[in-house]
Amino acid sequence: MVGGARLTGGFLRFMAQVIAVLDFGSQYTQVIARRLREFSVYSKVYRFDTPVERLRSDGVVGVILSGGPSSVLAPNAPRPDKGVFDLGLPTLGICYGLQLLGHTLGGEVEKSTHREYGRGTLTLQGPCPLFEGLPTSFRVWNSHGDRLRQLPTGFHPVASTENSDFAAIHDPDRRFFGLQFHPEVFHTEHGTEILRNFVIRVCGCRGDWTMANYAESAIRQIRETVGKENVILGLSGGVDSSVAAALIHQAIGEQLTCVFVDNGLLRKNERAAVEKLFGDNFKMNLIVSDARERFLDRLGGVTDPEKKRKIIGNVFVEVFEEEIEGIGEVGFLAQGTIYPDVIESVPIGGNPAALIKSHHNVGGLPERMRLKVLEPLNQLFKDEVRKLGAELGLPHEVLWRQPFPGPGLAVRVIGEITEENLAILREADAILIEEMRKADLYYRVWQSFAVFLPVRTVGVMGDERTYDYVIALRIVESIDAMTADWAQLPHELLQKISNRIINEVVGVNRVVLDISSKPPSTIEWE
Ligand code: XMP
Repeated sequence: MVGGARLTGGFLRFMAQVIAVLDFGSQYTQVIARRLREFSVYSKVYRFDTPVERLRSDGVVGVILSGGPSSVLAPNAPRPDKGVFDLGLPTLGICYGLQLLGHTLGGEVEKSTHREYGRGTLTLQGPCPLFEGLPTSFRVWNSHGDRLRQLPTGFHPVASTENSDFAAIHDPDRRFFGLQFHPEVFHTEHGTEILRNFVIRVCGCRGDWTMANYAESAIRQIRETVGKENVILGLSGGVDSSVAAALIHQAIGEQLTCVFVDNGLLRKNERAAVEKLFGDNFKMNLIVSDARERFLDRLGGVTDPEKKRKIIGNVFVEVFEEEIEGIGEVGFLAQGTIYPDVIESVPIGGNPAALIKSHHNVGGLPERMRLKVLEPLNQLFKDEVRKLGAELGLPHEVLWRQPFPGPGLAVRVIGEITEENLAILREADAILIEEMRKADLYYRVWQSFAVFLPVRTVGVMGDERTYDYVIALRIVESIDAMTADWAQLPHELLQKISNRIINEVVGVNRVVLDISSKPPSTIEWE
């Protein structure tokens, strides 16, 4: 993440009807926001203590208090701005959120000696807008510690489970609701309908938040924010920077300049594809900076993976800065930052992931160059970014391509990076990708790529002994890259890929398959 003047709030201004999800640390908070967006309702995760003035100015029409691991009885329990309950807005407390309603509004919460996990059966006791159209009994999923023993004034119970008389509570005058179970998780039957009832029936959301609307308002907003200033954007060819480029280009055309740095670590034909799409097709101002030599020079003799990454990050910033200088007056640096990168939630008692590999980004650049930051995708989840990209006319191939690391092939050439090793890897990788596409498997796996091993082994080709390099195939399935497993591809396909690489790529006489899962291995080899 970068510092500089973030324009986070700006892109909300045209989005009337926001549902605020106050995050008290539940692992499901993002899932709630995600569900609501599936009903075309715009929702946003806020820190639990966000001041009510901010919620008001963002156009919030309903509030959801998330679950969380704390006890409302603990002295340091996270609490919302007191004014939240005086906003006059419909409010739904889920799990910890229900306890908060109880505790704050005059009910009584008692400490429980054990947490209640797992399934329960919910039985409705009377009408309630949250449960309209639903059966009178269904399964729900619980995970909570404390119990609400006495309702706050104004509330009455509307549903119970085996373990709780107050599994769902309602204050019709204030339009406050509490659920002891989690409607957002898959295991709760009718959970989606409950959330939909809350936002559509109770909060009155129109459900008209579509990508076309988003694009329209974002374009207006970009124009208003940028004025007559120039904007630069580092285009990597990945999904996020491509969609950001297309969106900003549609808003301000010539005022946008994209910089694509050819670091010599790209896959086969990658640079040409970017030039064709963004230069020829979209007719953007596109600077293609040929920095291959500089990167390879600086990487010469370096074998340590972390050193490689640092060098690549540094050289990238150098090159990028030089290119910007040539453009003249620039006011903004645009970035394809997406919502999961900026989410304001604070993991309460959470455990920040330890650094395993330093990822490459342009942090620090905007501050040093006194640039303002423009991040028009910072409210969108990945799949929404893809939908927006489709709306803007980007091809399927760009929107659904497999992830590719910032340091590129440098982390796939094990050991020293040389032109020769890179060339071998590029050819082998192109064959693998081509065969994955032909077999209709390219989009079904998370990643499929080749790795160059600086190991020479003996082989025989024709009548001759060979002494050549090894290529490893890394093909994995994953949901979010946090965990991954090797994909079990048909043997005939593997055979074909191996034959083609050994026959067609000079310098390779052996292909091996990586059958390691993450953890304990990582997806990339370096
Ligand atoms: P690992 O190797 O950590 O990779 O299991 C997880 C995912 O992240 C990608 N990756 C990177 N992406 N810059 C990036 O933008 C990087 O430095 C980087 N390193 C790994 C990797 O391809 C996989 O999808």
